[in-house]
Amino acid sequence: MTNVATPDAYANLPETNPLGFPLDWSWLRGSKSEWGVQPKPSSRGLTMMDIAVGAYGEVPDEPPRRTMAPRGCDIEDPTPDMGYILNKKSQVWSDNVRELYEEAVARQWSATRDIPWGELQELPDDVEHAICQLCTFLSEVEMIAADLPAKWMWRMNHDFLEAKMFLCTQIMDEARHSEVFRKRALANGGGLLKSKAAGTELLRSILQAKTYTQASSLMHLLGEGFVLDIFRMGELISPTDVEKRIFRMAMQDEARHVAYGTLHLRYAVEHDPDVAEEIHEALDHGEMVLMEVGTQPDLTTALATLLAGGVENIETEGFPLQSQLSVKLLTSYLARCERAGLNRVQRTLLPLDLLGIDPDTFTPAA
Ligand SMILES: [Fe+2]
Ligand SMILES: [Fe+2]
Repeated sequence: MTNVATPDAYANLPETNPLGFPLDWSWLRGSKSEWGVQPKPSSRGLTMMDIAVGAYGEVPDEPPRRTMAPRGCDIEDPTPDMGYILNKKSQVWSDNVRELYEEAVARQWSATRDIPWGELQELPDDVEHAICQLCTFLSEVEMIAADLPAKWMWRMNHDFLEAKMFLCTQIMDEARHSEVFRKRALANGGGLLKSKAAGTELLRSILQAKTYTQASSLMHLLGEGFVLDIFRMGELISPTDVEKRIFRMAMQDEARHVAYGTLHLRYAVEHDPDVAEEIHEALDHGEMVLMEVGTQPDLTTALATLLAGGVENIETEGFPLQSQLSVKLLTSYLARCERAGLNRVQRTLLPLDLLGIDPDTFTPAA
């Protein structure tokens, strides 16, 4: 039902106020809004999927304006230009973004309240140092995944509202991740240990990516993908149930960020095939920088110490387990690229041979 707010019923309203200033009744008389379109709440409540009805659910491929006006309303012309540079849907969109936003809102948690900090126990020195070193690293790298969306969000056309809303949830998630790893480093008396230049170099190259889609490939697909896989190892690397809980909670959030990025890149490539090469070039560089971070002697020794339950068994248990997990990390990344519509197996410069992965027989189902 459209335009039921007929002008006739309001024809005799005053044209000026008592001081003589003109009044505007156009919102009442002449609205072109979809008056009467009424979304129905689902069993969960009124979701963003529920309200994507009629014209309100249509996200234009190239919005004609660059305004903050809510998509679907009547807009006064001319309207100020907000300076958006991401004005194509394919530059920011992913088909799962509404669902991911709803999931993010429903699954927020508190690093203060939802981690059983009181159950921390005294650990052997080497293990406490190792978890503190890992937490120092994670506390640093987590925040880039807040800074980067923040850098680009105000440049995104507001008609892509749901994508911006999802990125807001990512920013909150990453603040909590940075918080929870900082808290874990301090909570058992070990404290924050070493930050190395290679880690910061990776973060800088993500932040300085030339386009949002390149930045998304470096951050969501590559960086956060690897972090997600580290969180998935939580059961193996956690000295106590406290860390297991931390990794489990952070993993849920991280999986959403990676899911958005993977389907965003897929959407981008499907709607603009030329963008694939741009993404490949970013990943050519990003993979090399990530390799430097992933093979940092301090990070690898800390991880291997946690896998071995201490330095004593690092050669017999820590390093062999770490090699197995490295294969998983790489195959998982390559499979993610395939899901995003990007074949990296034949192009990557990552040392697949060292890990026994044959590009000719690799199957992306891993
Ligand atoms: Fe995170
Ligand atoms: Fe993340």
